Amino acid sequence: MNLPGTICINAEGHLQVGDCDVVELARTFGTPLYIYDEEGIREKCREYHRALAAHYPKYKVLYASKAFSSLAMCRLMEQEGLGLDVVSGGELYTALAAGFPQGKIYFHGNNKSIEELNLALSAGVGYIVVDNPWELENLAQLAAGRKSRIKILLRLTPGIEAHTHHYIQTGQLDSKFGISLVGDAALEVVKRALELPCLELAGIHCHIGSQVFASESFRLAAERMVEFMAEVREETGQQLAELNLGGGLGITYTENDRPEPIAAFIHGIATAIKEACARYNLPLPTLLLEPGRSLVGEAGIAVYRVGAIKEIPGVRTYASVDGGMADNPRPALYQARYRALVANKADAPRVQKYTIAGKCCESGDILIEDIELPRLVPGDLIAVLSSGAYQYAMASNYNRLPRPAVIAVAQGRAEVIIRRETYSDLIRYDRIPPAWEKDATLPAVM
Ligand code: LLP
Repeated sequence: MNLPGTICINAEGHLQVGDCDVVELARTFGTPLYIYDEEGIREKCREYHRALAAHYPKYKVLYASKAFSSLAMCRLMEQEGLGLDVVSGGELYTALAAGFPQGKIYFHGNNKSIEELNLALSAGVGYIVVDNPWELENLAQLAAGRKSRIKILLRLTPGIEAHTHHYIQTGQLDSKFGISLVGDAALEVVKRALELPCLELAGIHCHIGSQVFASESFRLAAERMVEFMAEVREETGQQLAELNLGGGLGITYTENDRPEPIAAFIHGIATAIKEACARYNLPLPTLLLEPGRSLVGEAGIAVYRVGAIKEIPGVRTYASVDGGMADNPRPALYQARYRALVANKADAPRVQKYTIAGKCCESGDILIEDIELPRLVPGDLIAVLSSGAYQYAMASNYNRLPRPAVIAVAQGRAEVIIRRETYSDLIRYDRIPPAWEKDATLPAVM
């Protein structure tokens, strides 16, 4: 099996990452456990930088923090010279609390509240990515009220169907996001933005979808966006400085996934933009990319301990683990598929087919259906690979399961970056109305 980053199998036959034995990590930090390979993430950031520097004169890479937002991850991305894409007041707050440079933050979202916009303005974020005309007017009013000027990008939907799961497609015409490039709507909004003195229209943005393999879709999107920039110049005389093509590059979840390497993906986009700009005689805009999954996805491992094993002769064998859809809803939501190893016998032959089930009270709580593994016994450790993006970020407390700990490992050292939730964390926000207290008289039922 081709393992990413520093993930490997050590002499004891245990899974190892960042020079740490995963069996030891599970013993020390408990399970379920999310482990990030620090070097693996840094290397992906550097791959983006290298490829962009090689193929395009002016660029910025932003980390789409929705993939996994935490103080430590914001700090790491800052160290690697990335900007940040945030999509909510909560992600913005996390970035600010981590001391992330405000000027390098791009604030996204299709329905930002007035409170969120105010938070962004008072924090001095670099850019707001305006999704719709309603937001444009709200923002203009708020900025005018503060006598401040804010840079914006306009989010457009280029009408491209990326080949990915329907729920994670975003660039097609029928989408809740952005202003459609079909018809005149986008040009109208550009014209309106140019009339508003408190807003500085820095450029345009699109994001066609996530876990995309068909890189042709990105190139097509790039062409459409440049074409629109040319139209804007033609109609308004305005030359837009920034072209943000979003994120979306796919990663390897199973052996069947063949994502385009970062360098080839960027080369393709850069070429498409250069050709289109030459066609319209436009100067090259600054190119922005906003990867999330392709930076942190393959660097994450989710480790679970096997408990009950149920064999249904002639049907299937379930191995239940101590996590499941609460910490990883992706299989249930998107039919996402994964590969896994048994961390304590990672090099043992795969002799039996199992279905890895979670511990939630729901038949659909299946992490991996039909995977060949070494023979399992209770206590074995299942390590699910490519667990770094949109897993912890989407975790819930369903069934009142505490969220797992998250650690980062490198060069034999392991650090907790999010501590495991406790049972008392689970009831921290609960309140019992005074009238329901034990000594209160309950209303009669019937
Ligand atoms: N920029 C924008 C505007 C986005 O909406 C997204 C992802 C990204 C960048 C980053 O895309 P990435 O490089 O990570 O593909 N929960 C789903 C994924 C939803 C992605 C939402 N937007 C999943 O688990 O697959």
